[in-house]
Amino acid sequence: MASYDEDISDAEKVYQECHQSGPLSFSDCIPPARMKLCSKIGEGTFGEVFSTINDSNKTVALKIIPVEGSQQVNGEQQKTFGEILHEIIISKELSCLNMKEINKTDGFIGLNNLHCVRGCYPDALLKAWDKFDRQKGSENDRPDFFDDEQLFLILEFEFGGSDLENMNGKLSSLVQAKSVLHQVTAALAVAEQALCFEHRDLHWGNILVKDVKHKHNEFILNGTVHCIETRGVHVNIIDYSLSRLEIDGLTVSCDISNDEELFMGQGDYQFEIYRLMKKENNNCWSTYNPHSNVLWLHYLAEKLLNMKYKNKGQQKTLKNALTSFQSEILSFPSATEALMNCRLFQ
Ligand SMILES: Nc1ncnc2c1ncn2[C@@H]1O[C@H](COP(=O)(O)OP(=O)(O)O)[C@@H](O)[C@H]1O
Ligand SMILES: [Mg+2]
Repeated sequence: MASYDEDISDAEKVYQECHQSGPLSFSDCIPPARMKLCSKIGEGTFGEVFSTINDSNKTVALKIIPVEGSQQVNGEQQKTFGEILHEIIISKELSCLNMKEINKTDGFIGLNNLHCVRGCYPDALLKAWDKFDRQKGSENDRPDFFDDEQLFLILEFEFGGSDLENMNGKLSSLVQAKSVLHQVTAALAVAEQALCFEHRDLHWGNILVKDVKHKHNEFILNGTVHCIETRGVHVNIIDYSLSRLEIDGLTVSCDISNDEELFMGQGDYQFEIYRLMKKENNNCWSTYNPHSNVLWLHYLAEKLLNMKYKNKGQQKTLKNALTSFQSEILSFPSATEALMNCRLFQ
């Protein structure tokens, strides 16, 4: 993480992180040829996500987030530079975990680079937005109302595959589901040890899965190398809007103590998890409570048990194993303890 002079503004800190002295234009950041290749792949309240090809011919995901404007977007106030800094810092730290020696994981999405741009929404992106809306239906406002003074942050991530919510029915079997659960637990454990990390919003839209050929996935926990059978899938965790971590004793967190709406959701176990986290941390969101990661693992086990799979054959033993995982997981204080001690991963 960059260390800042204390008296520079949040705007200056964001530009520093982007290695810019001021905003670029959309076309400086996404050249026309690549702009044409953009296809919308996802959305959230705060932004739109497009895939395209980068300089090195790799498929990437661009998360485009309006910032600092006074206009509401998708019924919410736009994020400020200060709020966006939180997501930038956490994305960088987790992305870097794949290069460490003591606590290492490639289970968090890689951040390639980031830029701040100014201008109205490009036509090519609106076209891609419309296509997504026709094919899948969008819950967001069509982003055509921004003027040429509007600022956006563009985070370029590696392309991580499809999120579990959109993959329902595409995982081959519970064998893959178990690998997903193992990979998520290991990534959380490594980040707990390295950064006192809590994700705090690990619903199935924030877990990406892609097919891979390699059979084993390696991670290092407190200096010891471990290995997970991939079963043909690789997992990437994304979306750190609510996450919490510590760097050199400094806490980066998001104070959601007054966010009434977040704790009122009904209809899915996901919404119960926000209330459980709040109950366990007494609505204090700066302190470290790794059990929140365990709550999300409990949620994930439930989702995986109820998902549809391509191969519906005999899977009774695994189904029982996942069910026992679900019944014992909440008793562990952290993802680290769950990883080391629960029966499913031994
Ligand atoms: N790196 C990525 N690779 C592939 N898809 C992604 C990537 N990042 C985000 N997405 C897709 O975009 C959606 C929204 O992104 P997310 O970061 O979760 O935004 P929000 O904070 O608005 O929820 C995700 O659920 C996923 O479908
Ligand atoms: Mg999300």
